Amino acid sequence: MSVAAPYQIGIAVAGCGYWGMNYVRIFSELPESRVVAVCDQRTDRLKEVERCHPTARGTTELEDLLIDPTVDAVVICTDATSHYAIARRCLLARKNILIEKPITTAVNQAEELAALSESNRVTLMVGHTFIYNAGIRKVKAYLKQAPENIYYLHARRTNLGPIRRDVNAVWDLATHDIAIFNYLLDSVPEWVSAVGGKILRNCREDVGFVCLGYPHNVLGHIHVSWADPNKTREVVAVCSDRRIVFDDLNGREQVRVFDKGVRAVPTEPLNYGECQLQIRDGDILSPVVEASEPLKNQCRHFLECVRSGTRPLTSGWEGRDVLKVLEAIDQSIKLNGSQIEVAKNGYSAHIAA
Ligand SMILES: NC(=O)c1ccc[n+]([C@@H]2O[C@H](COP(=O)([O-])OP(=O)(O)OC[C@H]3O[C@@H](n4cnc5c(N)ncnc54)[C@H](O)[C@@H]3O)[C@@H](O)[C@H]2O)c1
Repeated sequence: MSVAAPYQIGIAVAGCGYWGMNYVRIFSELPESRVVAVCDQRTDRLKEVERCHPTARGTTELEDLLIDPTVDAVVICTDATSHYAIARRCLLARKNILIEKPITTAVNQAEELAALSESNRVTLMVGHTFIYNAGIRKVKAYLKQAPENIYYLHARRTNLGPIRRDVNAVWDLATHDIAIFNYLLDSVPEWVSAVGGKILRNCREDVGFVCLGYPHNVLGHIHVSWADPNKTREVVAVCSDRRIVFDDLNGREQVRVFDKGVRAVPTEPLNYGECQLQIRDGDILSPVVEASEPLKNQCRHFLECVRSGTRPLTSGWEGRDVLKVLEAIDQSIKLNGSQIEVAKNGYSAHIAA
């Protein structure tokens, strides 16, 4: 359902906790939208929103949003395990939805939602925020210059919590990195191998080490932790001719390009099969990265998709692709790191394009 031009898109935010409040702020700031309603099970959260945004009606009942004709779109920012049920009700009521990561906690649920959004002609976008991060876009622009040179990617996302009560640290944190890797490589992994630890003795993994096998022998590695006092938010691409570092915590040099690398080159034809290593050693560059708030970029893209009816860059299908990897990781962790194939069927057309 696309919406005509000068009209301000009516937004409702379901789940006004830590992250949901950012959506309330941004959609209130953007001239193309207005926040008309908010929904949360906790009345203290509703009171807090109503105090700062008096035009947003607060309710504890999702149904109130669904029957409200001024609500064009619902942002679902509740706990991951509640995403599917809330999203399904919104889509059946023909509301556009922006759903936080992970889209759901099961691949079949994500596929159902993606298909439902298409059959009901409403937008479904997943909040894979880093795809809207100018630094990650910059890294992609560099990698696109010579994708054949990529050796491997690795990511670190560690901190002391915040610990979630419904999903483990891999589903909470590695979701970002899998979405980033898929985006940077324009592909999805063929296999995974992962180990996890329940260091803090809760019932879910609070630390995970994940290896991913992408096409053309490109490797990925992700380290996530809720139990590490050193906060990191880093993605590194190692290529034969350069090393590119994205550090989300470095406000001054978010991306750095080390013009250094090593590649194996064949020696004389007589020494068939032998190689020598060629080392490249150049400068370190800090490219300019446009200063913009990733979540605001993401919200703008959502409004544009609702208006035009076009498929978001991070649609339900991209969300589903990430879940396929997460489900394979779960299996691998249960089997102490065994290599598990990632299900291939129904590959996202967007990433393939
Ligand atoms: N994209 C990002 O960078 C990013 C960052 C943080 C959180 N998140 C995601 O945002 C979502 C929320 O995370 P958070 O940190 O804000 O959690 P939170 O616990 O602070 O907030 C969740 C809110 O949802 C409410 N809620 C739960 N179930 C509900 C229901 N059925 N109906 C109405 N309200 C309900 C809770 O009362 C709470 O206020 C999660 O999916 C999380 O993964 C994404």
